[in-house]
Amino acid sequence: MSNRRGPDFETRMAEDEEIPPSPQFVEQATVTDDSVSDEFEENWPDCWARAAATLDWFDPYESVLPDDEPPFEWFAGGTLNACYNCVDRHVEAGAENRVAIKWESHLGETRTYTYQDLYREVNEFAAALRAQGVEADDVVTLYMPMIPELPIAMLACARIGAPHNVVFAGLSADALATRLESADSVFLVTCDGYYRRGSAIFLKSKADDARLKAAHDLEEMVVVEHLGETEHLGAGQHTYEELVAAHAGAEVAPVERAADDVLFLIHTSGTTGEPKRVEHVTGGYLAHVAWTSQTVLDLDPEDTYLCTANIGWISGHSYVVYGPLALGATAVMYEGTPNYPERDRIWDLIEENAVDVFYTAPTAIRSFMKWDTSLPASRDLSSLRLLGTVGEPIDPRAWHWYYEHIGNGNCPIVDTWWQTETGGMMITTLPGVEKMKPGSAGPPLPGVGARVVDGRGEEVPVNEAGYLVLTRPWPGMPLALRHGHRWGEEAAKLDVDGWHYFTGDGAKVDDDGYITVLGRVDDVINVSGHRLGTMEIESAIVGVEGVVEAAVVSVDDAEAGGIHAYVTLETGVSGDDDLRERIAAHVRERIGPIATPDAVVFTPDLPKTRSGKIMRRFLENITNGEEFGDTSALQNPEIVGELESIVRDG
Ligand code: WTA
Repeated sequence: MSNRRGPDFETRMAEDEEIPPSPQFVEQATVTDDSVSDEFEENWPDCWARAAATLDWFDPYESVLPDDEPPFEWFAGGTLNACYNCVDRHVEAGAENRVAIKWESHLGETRTYTYQDLYREVNEFAAALRAQGVEADDVVTLYMPMIPELPIAMLACARIGAPHNVVFAGLSADALATRLESADSVFLVTCDGYYRRGSAIFLKSKADDARLKAAHDLEEMVVVEHLGETEHLGAGQHTYEELVAAHAGAEVAPVERAADDVLFLIHTSGTTGEPKRVEHVTGGYLAHVAWTSQTVLDLDPEDTYLCTANIGWISGHSYVVYGPLALGATAVMYEGTPNYPERDRIWDLIEENAVDVFYTAPTAIRSFMKWDTSLPASRDLSSLRLLGTVGEPIDPRAWHWYYEHIGNGNCPIVDTWWQTETGGMMITTLPGVEKMKPGSAGPPLPGVGARVVDGRGEEVPVNEAGYLVLTRPWPGMPLALRHGHRWGEEAAKLDVDGWHYFTGDGAKVDDDGYITVLGRVDDVINVSGHRLGTMEIESAIVGVEGVVEAAVVSVDDAEAGGIHAYVTLETGVSGDDDLRERIAAHVRERIGPIATPDAVVFTPDLPKTRSGKIMRRFLENITNGEEFGDTSALQNPEIVGELESIVRDG
């Protein structure tokens, strides 16, 4: 098992506190009937019809899940359109004046889109994309920061059946080029630039670099004029504003998509050096995120909701855009980071917009805690009804702080475990039904199968650590798993009977069936809520002249930075600050600033097994000042002690 343990790991292991949801919450909750789990159990897989019922289908599906073997064709025979479900149907139902997206810039500018406004602009941009030659199943890459044109472009793509491929704006030109190639995408929507913590970032010039680096030609590029800096447009490049104006008032019929047609592609980090391409399909994915937004986030159409996730990652796709808009709720979209320009910006947003439901990540909660608690206390947060977290384990101390200082002791917290690969939430309490246990995500959602097993696939005893596997297909599962592919080399190592998906996480289960997720056990690390592959970063470091080998690990103490790199050099090359800077610059160029190591340690060797595999576990122990276990399986056990003194003596 990995040793990626937060400082409160022991507390978490010992914790068995139980907190029921407040009666005020339960009284109004969407799901309050505790028979829901039994009902799902008895009626599996047809129980998932309840998720599909949150959507409008053009043709009804014939079967929820025709077969219990791959291919898993969720809602087979059904047709629908995701944009129609997120926009048109709310307008048709008379909610055209309800706010769909309230955008807040970090400088205090706001923009409000009612469902009618969203309908108009999505249609105009869909018409513009069509006119650029985009057809159903053409992949459109969106390389954009948190501006309203990003969800508008996603919905416009969905409308015409063109899968989108959103690339996080913080990634580099090289990373964009790789993702354009991986998606075989010749259409790109970007923006001139944006401000990040006060400095301008010129996205268009990064997109132009990517265009030169990509192995195939980009046919069309659309540039949103966010900074008003779009002066140099080349052939095949247009401004968003000009295209939308040219299609003013246009309407495009939503394209009928089969439940299994791809809605979007998204790239995440896996265990190899290449980004992992995940494809989500229209019917199952949308049903999964709409259903969980309703039952777990407890969202009603009347609710105002704030999720701090960036739309560049899966959390933003599922719970800034598709889930809340499918339900017809009001989503507040914040352009900046929680601590810029002021540390109370988020509390301002909650107060000003009377936010009902707030969903964020433990890394943000830890920063809020570190800052002054009087900041949230000086705001009126009484509109809040429910709080959520996602992205990494939340330790009980942060959990309690969130519960008391933000939720005033009466908003339930849903600690939702899920991944890019699952599309939507999988393990969490149902807030109107189940008690909370701080530090533990909760039981699998009704209809979800999860187990914690050892390497032989045997269920581990209560409260012992093992591997988290999902044992039943679920509606939001991506294309590869639907088709029966097993992802990742680790999957093959586990000897579990029957169909299963290995999540890459370690976990333990208590005697109530509550699952506590302990963190990744594969070569993926989680740094300030960003999912990164160690191999990706190491390949970038090894690309620097003079470097022979590299191993990166994550640091538990966020104050000490996120990533430390251990690097060996060619004979005669000196490990100095100049080389450290070249390594950092190269990682920034290959992947982006989020992956840049905070410390580079030069070492004569790396701890390796006899077969030559680098044992990162020992490096994690050294980095985090932990005891390291038995080194006798190493071919070079002496290096562990040597490295420890290099790190200790700085
Ligand atoms: C981690 C983000 C503990 C986990 C939606 C998972 C969590 C990875 C939780 C997926 C949670 C997510 N408790 N760990 N509530 N939620 N994780 O693909 O390690 O960016 O495998 O998806 O985040 O990260 P991804």
